[in-house]
Amino acid sequence: MALLHTRGLLATPRLAAAATRASSWWSHVEMGPPDPILGVTEAFKRDTNSKKMNLGVGAYRDDNGKPYVLNCVRKAEAMIASKKMDKEYLPIGGLADFTRASAELALGENSEVLKSGRYVTVQGISGTGSLRIGASFLQRFFKSSRDVYLPKPSWGNHTPIFRDAGLQLQAYRYYDPKTCSLDFSGAMDDISKIPEKSIILLHACAHNPTGVDPRQEQWKEIAALVKKRNLLVYFDMAYQGFASGDINRDAWAVRYFIDQGINVLISQSYAKNMGLYGERAGAFTMICSNAEEAKRVESQLKILIRPMYSNPPMNGARIASIILNTPDIRKEWLVEVKGMADRIISMRTQLVSNLKKEGSSHNWQHITDQIGMFCFTGLKPEQVEKLIKEFSIYLTKDGRISVAGVTSGNVGYLAHAIHQVTK
Ligand SMILES: Cc1ncc(COP(=O)(O)O)c(C=O)c1O
Repeated sequence: MALLHTRGLLATPRLAAAATRASSWWSHVEMGPPDPILGVTEAFKRDTNSKKMNLGVGAYRDDNGKPYVLNCVRKAEAMIASKKMDKEYLPIGGLADFTRASAELALGENSEVLKSGRYVTVQGISGTGSLRIGASFLQRFFKSSRDVYLPKPSWGNHTPIFRDAGLQLQAYRYYDPKTCSLDFSGAMDDISKIPEKSIILLHACAHNPTGVDPRQEQWKEIAALVKKRNLLVYFDMAYQGFASGDINRDAWAVRYFIDQGINVLISQSYAKNMGLYGERAGAFTMICSNAEEAKRVESQLKILIRPMYSNPPMNGARIASIILNTPDIRKEWLVEVKGMADRIISMRTQLVSNLKKEGSSHNWQHITDQIGMFCFTGLKPEQVEKLIKEFSIYLTKDGRISVAGVTSGNVGYLAHAIHQVTK
């Protein structure tokens, strides 16, 4: 009877629609805010100005503003194709040649940690997925604290990665907007007050979004302090080689901390330094007290990974592994990664000299002092607004530009526009 009655009601379309709405499982789900970076790209795409620039996106562009596939990557791909490799599942922890070479890349070939075997490296889904493996491990096994201290500001994805893994976010001072550089005393002051046995996240090099890294002397002081406070250090190394052009120099802080007896966690990404963005190749490493502890940790990492995605994707790891493990291709990669870093460094210099040519009297030294893909220009939100509206130059509201999006063809226009909004 009730069924017949309902059928009768549904005969009118309006009521039928209402019934559909009422039976929805997801009526409580609110529209989420758009991704701030993707929003910049959308607005850029709609703009018809031929001089428009997209400085929001965090991906390398060549001097013609085009995406760049490294020659060493093309060679590795050709090898994979010619060997007609199979498509079997990888082990849960990933491709062994890849994880071993990733650990060696991070730690250095003569590392005592490598020799003693007191580490474990698993393949991750690029830098993000690797960070998430570490976050999930901490959530399950780090008993002394739920708090992760991030530099302020930090890469936008750090907060949700750790929060969604069930940890709590705290911040320590890092960037001084007055000088557009490191707030070293603020950072040291805040770190000295972090409760012992908490987790601290450090960017190994090319801090995102500011481009501001500590100098080696400052790293030494930070290492001594985190050791004194007995903090668990998690290094996010998304730009090794891409910052200075030298893989060893960019890993200096990580290796120094380990030399000081600090058993760090490390996430690596091959998105930037090999241009493997969409291949999602990355690695997560934990340094342990001894090889036996590393084995136990490895077993639990596999138990964590298995229900998340079972086993990682193979193609990017194969490409990276061939590059890292084939001496002549590796050599070519080192030249190419330096080429990308050098182009970015040269764009920084050209931007500053063009600003001077425009007649700008501001001190733009921070542009060349900062390193890596991003530059925190120090532009205020209203100046950013003007750059977008009047010059079709797209960047995030915080004044961050991706220097990788600047070319010899448009650096003059960028300098002109910045001068116009800041004079
Ligand atoms: C600081 C930092 N960590 C991690 C990542 C992770 O990137 P991906 O997941 O593409 O490797 C990025 C990318 O922009 C980054 O800037």
